[in-house]
Amino acid sequence: MTTSTGFDIRRIGGRIGAEIHGVDLSGDLEPALVSEINSALLEHKALVFRDQQLDDAGQLRFASLFGELTTAHPTVPSVDGQPQILPVDGDEGIRSNVWHTDVTFVRTPPKASTLRSIVVPPYGGNTLIANSAAAYRDLPEPLRELADKLWAVHTNAYDYAAPKSEKAAEYRKRFVSRKYRTVHPVVRVHPETGERGLFIGGFAQSIVGLGPSDSRDLLRIFQSYVTRPENIARVAWTPGDLVLFDNRITQHYAPDDYGDLPRLLHRVTVAGDVPTGIDGTPSHVLEGDDASHYTPPWPESRQGRRKGTRAPAGGPGSRQASASTRGREPPATFRPASADSSVSRSMPLVCFSGFSLMNSTAISASAANGVATRKSSAVAIP
Ligand code: SIN
Repeated sequence: MTTSTGFDIRRIGGRIGAEIHGVDLSGDLEPALVSEINSALLEHKALVFRDQQLDDAGQLRFASLFGELTTAHPTVPSVDGQPQILPVDGDEGIRSNVWHTDVTFVRTPPKASTLRSIVVPPYGGNTLIANSAAAYRDLPEPLRELADKLWAVHTNAYDYAAPKSEKAAEYRKRFVSRKYRTVHPVVRVHPETGERGLFIGGFAQSIVGLGPSDSRDLLRIFQSYVTRPENIARVAWTPGDLVLFDNRITQHYAPDDYGDLPRLLHRVTVAGDVPTGIDGTPSHVLEGDDASHYTPPWPESRQGRRKGTRAPAGGPGSRQASASTRGREPPATFRPASADSSVSRSMPLVCFSGFSLMNSTAISASAANGVATRKSSAVAIP
């Protein structure tokens, strides 16, 4: 399909994902074009822009067209000198081979993530992206009705598998150096489309009101709908690609299938809002701060009553809900953020997706054309 601003959208999966052709992301993008990219994002949830060859500044500039940026991560370090860029560095032995939505352990997880490939292995090292709205629609009605009522506790500090290297152990220590526990609805209403999606993934560790074993079982059942092959698109990277995905209604996973070969992506995330359940009740913090060093505070006045939500009916967070829904703003609509966005907003460090790491220079220096050849140690942690 060709859009009115002249780019091509080619679907890559039946239910999620499209490649965008005919846009040069390094140029100045007109608001009408950004608006059409955003519409494509809302529809396809994950967009792949091939062979863009952006640098860090170009990636920051592109991501900031969709809103204010977060810093790289709430706890782990950014790329040196780039406080808003997270290195996703498989060479450090830290790989995101757990299904997750980025940074859901804080109250305002990112709205969207951009990943840019710098070094990719000659095989493997893909990223899988799942449509959690399709997963919700796939649920049999009794399960959907149950999910609608549930809230889950998301945390960055849980029972990780034993680290397999010193670097991985060090990384994990940093990862949990501030502990966050946040209660989010199991079914999140998308603030721009009103679509409902399962908002769970790797950081969702328990269901409010249930014990560990029931929580685990229920989360496993819901998660099995997210990860059905029908709901997944697979991105096979070539160096210089950029992927933009909607973090409010997707999960992703990076298979650890490239042995000792290096792989380096840079991640930049766009700040999000406070998720709301189907009755408009917003998420709330159980432990930890509001992560304002990571993501701009989300004013209650902007929360409003969302498209696709019902009136609050009590339940977790309902006190906040009644305060925040009083304003009854109209649903948020997309507005290109280039005019008032802030690549320049100065904040300290850092985001997760789950994993990533620290010193990216070793890999980039070793890769003349971005296709990895060097050996390293491999370890997987969630
Ligand atoms: C990836 O390594 O492909 C995904 C990184 C992330 O979880 O953000």
